[in-house]
Amino acid sequence: MNNILDEAFKKNYAVPQFNMNGLIWLESILKTAEKCRAPVIVGTTDKIVDQLGGFNLLTQVFKTMKKDLNITVPAVLHLDHGQTVERCIEAVNAGYDSVMYDGSKLLIEENVKNTKKVVEYAHRHGVTVEAEVGSVGGTEDGVYSDLSYADQTECVQLSKETGIDSLAPALGSVHGKYKGEPNLGFKEMTLLRQSLDIPFVLHGASGISDEDLQKAISYGHAKINYNTELNIAWSDALRKVLNSNQELYAPMEILEPSKQALNNVIEGIIKRTGAFQKA
Ligand code: 13P
Ligand code: ZN
Ligand code: NA
Repeated sequence: MNNILDEAFKKNYAVPQFNMNGLIWLESILKTAEKCRAPVIVGTTDKIVDQLGGFNLLTQVFKTMKKDLNITVPAVLHLDHGQTVERCIEAVNAGYDSVMYDGSKLLIEENVKNTKKVVEYAHRHGVTVEAEVGSVGGTEDGVYSDLSYADQTECVQLSKETGIDSLAPALGSVHGKYKGEPNLGFKEMTLLRQSLDIPFVLHGASGISDEDLQKAISYGHAKINYNTELNIAWSDALRKVLNSNQELYAPMEILEPSKQALNNVIEGIIKRTGAFQKA
C-alpha cells in the first residue's frame, strides 16, 4: 500500500479505494483496474467482512481471483473502518495488506492509544495503517456517525505519536448520499497540509463534485474512498432489468447489466482520480 500511495502523493493523483459488497464487485474492480492500467485498493468494511464469509475467506478469494484473472497492476486488500484493535489484528493475521483503525468516536487520547497498538502489530507484519480524526458523517453498512470536523492539533498528535501511514482527516465528507451540497473544509485542508507530510485519505467521496475532488487531491489526498456510487449504479441497473421483464429469473441474465454498470462507474472514477495508466 505504501508504494502506491507514496507514488500517488508525490505525483499528485489519487488511488481509488472501491469497497466490495460481493464477488461481482471484486471481479469488476480487478478487471477494470487491469484494463485501465491503474493501481487499486479493494476495501471491505468491518461489517461486510462477516457477511462475506470472514477475513480468511476474503483473503483467499482476493489472492485467487488476482491470480486467475492475471492481474498485473498493484491491487491491495484493505480493511475499511476497522472498529476495534482486535478486528485489525484479525485482518493482519488473515493476510490483509492494509488496515484502517477507526477510533473517530473516541476521545483523542484513546484513539491515539489504540491506533498505536494497531500500528505496532501491523508494521511488524508489513501491513500499513490508516487512522481517522474527526468524524465522517452519515451511515455505512449500518454504522452511523455524526459529522464532526477534524481538529488540527489532534491530527498532528495522532500522526506523530502513532506512526500511521496515512490519515483520514474528516473535513465535511459524508458516507452515503449528501443531504444538500457537500461542504468540504478546504481552509482546514490547506492548514493541515502545512503541518503534516503524510498522504491524506478522503472518505465519503461519492457525491463530491469533480472540482472539489481535484482540490482535495491537490492538498495531498492520495487515497479516495468510494462505495455508494458503485452501489447506486449496481442497484439502478438491477432494478431496470427486473422491471423490464417480470418473467426473468436466470441470475446470469439479471446480473449482467449490473456488472457492466459497475465496470463503467469504476472506469469513470479511475479517470477522475488520475490513477488511469499509472501502473
Ligand atoms: P461513500 O459512501 O461516499 O461512497 O464513501 C465510501 C467510504 O468512505 C468508505 O470508507
Ligand atoms: Zn469511509
Ligand atoms: Na458520500
